[in-house]
Amino acid sequence: MNNLVNQILDVATSSIAFITLIFILPPFLCLRFFLSSLNSIFSENVSGKVVLITGASSGIGEHLTYEYARRGARLALVARRWQRLLNVAEVSRYLGAPDVLVICADVSKVEDSKHFINETVNHFGRLDHLVNNAGISTMSMLEEFPDITNAAPVMETNFWGSVYSTHFAIPHLKTSRGKIIVTASSGAWLTVPRMAFYSASKAAVISFFETLRVELGGDIGITIVTPGLIESELTKGKILSKEGKMVLDQDMRDVEISAVPVTSAERCAKDIVDNACRGDRYLTVPSWMRVTILWKVFLPEVLEWSNRMLLVAGPERPPTEAPSKKILDLTGIQEVMYPPSIQ
Ligand SMILES: NC(=O)c1ccc[n+]([C@@H]2O[C@H](COP(=O)([O-])OP(=O)(O)OC[C@H]3O[C@@H](n4cnc5c(N)ncnc54)[C@H](OP(=O)(O)O)[C@@H]3O)[C@@H](O)[C@H]2O)c1
Ligand SMILES: *[C@@H]1O[C@H](CO)[C@@H](O)[C@H](O)[C@H]1NC(C)=O
Ligand SMILES: *[C@@H]1O[C@H](CO)[C@@H](O)[C@H](O)[C@H]1NC(C)=O
Repeated sequence: MNNLVNQILDVATSSIAFITLIFILPPFLCLRFFLSSLNSIFSENVSGKVVLITGASSGIGEHLTYEYARRGARLALVARRWQRLLNVAEVSRYLGAPDVLVICADVSKVEDSKHFINETVNHFGRLDHLVNNAGISTMSMLEEFPDITNAAPVMETNFWGSVYSTHFAIPHLKTSRGKIIVTASSGAWLTVPRMAFYSASKAAVISFFETLRVELGGDIGITIVTPGLIESELTKGKILSKEGKMVLDQDMRDVEISAVPVTSAERCAKDIVDNACRGDRYLTVPSWMRVTILWKVFLPEVLEWSNRMLLVAGPERPPTEAPSKKILDLTGIQEVMYPPSIQ
């Protein structure tokens, strides 16, 4: 009986999918376009609002800080490097942030997260935007790890770090009818070799916040950002090594990024804050990166095959002999594709 129901559904769902595509999609897209135009008109003014940014000491987070500062937001900055945070805070005040709180914390520690949310609300009396941005990556194949637990910090920082701060921030965000902005990654669907832990952590982040959106209803807006390649310490080659230490490995960076253009962090930050203030649900920067979603859906085999061909060197060969790096070295195209700060 159950089998029969499933057989009927197999046939029915394709007809339903077809009908949906023809009759429901066009009016739905029109409605969505109309609503997003309304959102552009009634975009949020963050002047005087309280914004907490994790991973504010470099890269995307640093520039998100400057972008919010220019708009007059009050800021709480979180990362582990105290001195760098102080510098970012000083520039932010200069750019227009009326009040900046600097908090040294590790987002992967639940007690730290509890503390920085608490301290922010104690200091400012409210919280309007929580920007979950802190993140790290490995660039090694699964089989290369001498101790597999060396990869655990990727999940602990990217996934659990975002979950902890969100957990403690939700009561305050409900009061302010605030927003959560989370930096996931296009890597979540791109199946790039040596980025398995990173991709998995970002896919987890996307699923988590999509589901949270349903749990919360309209109380708190959630903007999920999936950047392509953005100028930062990460794209400069700062990664978690297979030995479990943060290192600078520009050769490995070259292998992984190859000749894909890297967008400026300032440009990326402006797009993120614009979209968050409009209340958009998703943002991919640079926007051409969205084409890769189509590749993933319609040509997954091609995507996998080309990633393997380009990024994996032959057997017994070092990764730096992968075609992706050779293309870069032979053409010298890096100078055009990467901003000077990360060359
Ligand atoms: N750059 C890209 O191409 C790209 C693409 C897609 C997604 N993303 C995502 O964008 C986010 C920002 O990275 P980024 O590219 O700007 O790289 P980045 O320059 O390396 O910045 C990472 C930031 O996270 C902080 N951080 C790392 N671990 C932390 C921890 N345990 N606790 C607190 N802070 C921590 C770092 O500060 P401290 O070291 O001082 O703690 C730093 O401020 C990440 O989530 C990354 O995955 C980047
Ligand atoms: C935002 O609000 C502040 C005061 O709260 C005001 O001075 C500023 O002009 C507003 N900005 C925009 C772009 O509306
Ligand atoms: C949170 O702040 C309150 C003060 O409002 C303080 O009594 C409490 O100990 C703080 N908790 C944490 C975990 O920092």
